[in-house]
Amino acid sequence: QLQVLEVVVFSAPSYACQRRTTLDNHNAILTDALSLLAENAELSGEDGRGVAFRRAAGVLKGLPEPVTAVTQLVGLPCLGGHSLRVVKDILENGASCEVEDTKQSERFKVLKVLTGIFGVGVKTAERWIQEGIRGLQQLQDSGRTLNRAQQAGLQHYEDLNQHVTRSEADAVAAVVEEAVASVLPGARMTLIGGFRRGKLTGHDVDFLITHPEEGREVGLMPKVVSWLESQGFLLYQKTTKNSYLEGEDGPARPSSNMDRFERCFSIFKLTEEVNGEGLKPWRAVRVDLVVSPISQFAFALLGWTGSKLFERELRRWAGHKKAMSLSSHALYDNTQRRYLRASSEEEIFAHLGLEYIPPSERNA
Ligand code: CTP
Ligand code: MN
Ligand code: MN
Ligand code: MN
Repeated sequence: QLQVLEVVVFSAPSYACQRRTTLDNHNAILTDALSLLAENAELSGEDGRGVAFRRAAGVLKGLPEPVTAVTQLVGLPCLGGHSLRVVKDILENGASCEVEDTKQSERFKVLKVLTGIFGVGVKTAERWIQEGIRGLQQLQDSGRTLNRAQQAGLQHYEDLNQHVTRSEADAVAAVVEEAVASVLPGARMTLIGGFRRGKLTGHDVDFLITHPEEGREVGLMPKVVSWLESQGFLLYQKTTKNSYLEGEDGPARPSSNMDRFERCFSIFKLTEEVNGEGLKPWRAVRVDLVVSPISQFAFALLGWTGSKLFERELRRWAGHKKAMSLSSHALYDNTQRRYLRASSEEEIFAHLGLEYIPPSERNA
């Protein structure tokens, strides 16, 4: 009997925002390896290389089945020679030397520990390493002046480096819901970030808050924060004011991809009552709160749902393919020289000439 071996050759469109990427990743070993190289590049200040590895991982995350040979990848976008070599090594030898060496490298390990402190970025970590600091204890003993965020980050290091579960996210949501309802009846709160995409765990919990009447959201954040503080829920918070200027005929054109919503980066004290069972009476959880006016809500929702690669690709698509500028505030058409309004994510995808991709399929 003749056996026909079918080998699938994969194909995919090149922008992550054109693809449906669920959490059902059939190539986790490969994408973990590429993500690690991306992380190492980012920790070394090589952002371009980082993006290239992230894009390669993004393509593999969306494949319908496991890759068994590199020949299946010939037609795929975003897989450069370097990424293909890593994939080939893993398929043929079970591991990639480059990935294993990186994992073992002292520099990578130390950078991960130091940037794992909330409030510490690559530059600070880099400086400390140059000054001879190799670990948390050494940092603590060195008597370095740490800012408020870093102090909190060091203090709650273990908790903050332990992922947040869905049930913990739900417990935080209940608290934020109560805070919002108490200070402004009618205000709405939406879970955003990874949990909105259906992830079962996250590094934090993200919320977007708005009010159906434009303008009613002004001044909301300080009230929410005060309420949370008075109830003892905050171990740390830093609120940043809205710096987005309204122009004459619409919101001012954003000058960069950084958005300027009123936001609060915080550390919650999740107590046993809301936490369910557990050995400790409470634990620290990172929580991000963002307030947007209803007129920008759809853009904020789309911009804060992620994934980070999906967002980056949406903006790249908008700029390169449509001559439009997309931010978490607005969509500007450079050809028509006007803002395109939208009150739902679906409308934004339509403006961009993209098929609508629901949050659960934005996990590139
Ligand atoms: N974001 C942003 N500006 C920031 C931080 C985050 O616009 N200063 C956006 C990111 O682009 C992302 C979303 O907010 O779309 C959530 O970011 P983050 O919480 O870092 O990532 P998650 O996708 O939620 O992943 P995790 O589960 O690890 O939290
Ligand atoms: Mn599947
Ligand atoms: Mn998040
Ligand atoms: Mn976040």
